[in-house]
Amino acid sequence: MRIDVVSIFPEYLAALDLSLIGKARQDGVLDVRVHDLRSFTTDRHRTVDDTPYGGGAGMVMKAEPWALALEAVLADASPAGAADAAGGAPAAHDGTADALPGDGSATVGSTDSASSAGTPSARRRPTLVVPSPAGAVFDQAMAYEFAELDHLVFACGRYEGIDERAIDWARGPFDVRPVSLGDYVLNGGEVAVLAMVEAVGRLIPGVVGNPESLLEESHADGLLEYPVYTKPSSWRGRDIPEVLLSGNHARIAQWRRLEQFHRTADRRPDLLAAVDTATLTKADLTALRAAGFDVVDGMLTRPPH
Ligand code: ADE
Repeated sequence: MRIDVVSIFPEYLAALDLSLIGKARQDGVLDVRVHDLRSFTTDRHRTVDDTPYGGGAGMVMKAEPWALALEAVLADASPAGAADAAGGAPAAHDGTADALPGDGSATVGSTDSASSAGTPSARRRPTLVVPSPAGAVFDQAMAYEFAELDHLVFACGRYEGIDERAIDWARGPFDVRPVSLGDYVLNGGEVAVLAMVEAVGRLIPGVVGNPESLLEESHADGLLEYPVYTKPSSWRGRDIPEVLLSGNHARIAQWRRLEQFHRTADRRPDLLAAVDTATLTKADLTALRAAGFDVVDGMLTRPPH
């Protein structure tokens, strides 16, 4: 998968050199490129923002540097893509899209569908994720969706946001997705991109060493993960649940599943309410009823305790 990130703070994205994502880049599994938006300005002061039309507090990011940066990303991924974006001739901008220091994977691992799929209409446009508190809320389903893509581009806005005309323009060459990390406001999109790249990247085959661990984690099946324990079995007067020492794998699996429901009911009743009860097995229902859960009007409920 190819990932491009455009930001006025490329250093923020240095964390993508670390841990599993960093290793995946080194291994050529992920091709992550970080670009400095200011490289795509044309004035002496490398201006990326200006005052908002209509007045009000703060500054707005100018459209043109964004269009130039995104055209350069497209041109790099697929020369024909930039021609589409510019409505004819490829972008004439020569600002270099710079990778982070130490970005050894900048030229590896890229398989861009756009360059190989024939006619422009047959080509799949790259997805442009615009982190914004005004976007659709990012969740595990979206992470799975993004993990299927060949090319993800992130546009990190700052200040009051990006001139909306740049976003509208981008809807030509990109599938534009405004995405929020949650219902709170960050200073810019960079932290959101770090979170999204990690959530998406770890779903790409070869990034997480043991793919089985992806199956049994929170949100994989719409429920929160069960509690986990490691040695010693007794710590500061607290013993682990006895069932975990039983060696009975069926009992352990049953206990863990019920713990998922309890935890989800306690912490995320919204997720519990969203469980499709038609997918619950007979064994699930028996265990759930014994534990005080019930199915009312097709919805899983648990009386407060
Ligand atoms: N930029 C500012 N706040 C944000 C949020 N909540 N999610 C994504 N990007 C943001």
